[in-house]
Amino acid sequence: MSHELRTPEGLLLRAWQDDDAAAVLEAFSSPDMARQTAEPITDLNAAIGWIWRASAGRDTDAWFSWAVSDPDGAVLGNVTVSGIDRRHEQAWVSYWTLPRARGRGVAAAATRAAARWAFSEGGLHRLELGHRTNNPTSCRVALAAGFAVEGVEREKLLYDGVRFDVGRHARLATDPAPSA
Ligand SMILES: CC(C)(COP(=O)(O)OP(=O)(O)OC[C@H]1O[C@@H](n2cnc3c(N)ncnc32)[C@H](O)[C@@H]1OP(=O)(O)O)[C@@H](O)C(=O)NCCC(=O)NCCS
Repeated sequence: MSHELRTPEGLLLRAWQDDDAAAVLEAFSSPDMARQTAEPITDLNAAIGWIWRASAGRDTDAWFSWAVSDPDGAVLGNVTVSGIDRRHEQAWVSYWTLPRARGRGVAAAATRAAARWAFSEGGLHRLELGHRTNNPTSCRVALAAGFAVEGVEREKLLYDGVRFDVGRHARLATDPAPSA
């Protein structure tokens, strides 16, 4: 399987490399990224550990993470297709972008590209994603990537003693592709 994708917007989705550790550390230094990983990423070693875990899923067909970069390879963010369930041909999508790369369509373009891959080379039929309902930016990303709203999962997540509702979205291989 090819693991390098290019988007119509000129972004490159490529495998994570150890050299990307500084960018990963920068990304996880943002307060709104604390809940995007089970283990805190506070130094370069932890960032390399994150890269190894992100890369390991390819060996087992369990998940695929791409470094989203500009055409020169500089990291702008991440998109992951995880929880791949071959029995039901479905998976889960997640994304983040570096604070300095936000607000210019990077997450939306990367998610569209990952979905294109998932529905073609990836052999999947249904992709799901979820965001806390107090994260409207992620909701906009989902819609811009063609993931329809399916409802609200009430009090699904628990962080620091507070329960959060989650907006559930999904896109099917048979749904119309969103325009860029
Ligand atoms: C959520 C996140 C991935 C968005 O990344 P991004 O690259 O800035 O997103 P995009 O530029 O592709 O924007 C996509 C949509 O969000 C909108 N948007 C961008 N920043 C926004 C903001 N601060 N508030 C509201 N909407 C915003 C854009 O206008 C666009 O909407 P449109 O298609 O209707 O114009 C990024 O803010 C992030 O990494 N946050 C922390 C991690 C996170 O929350 N991940 C998602 C977990 S579910």
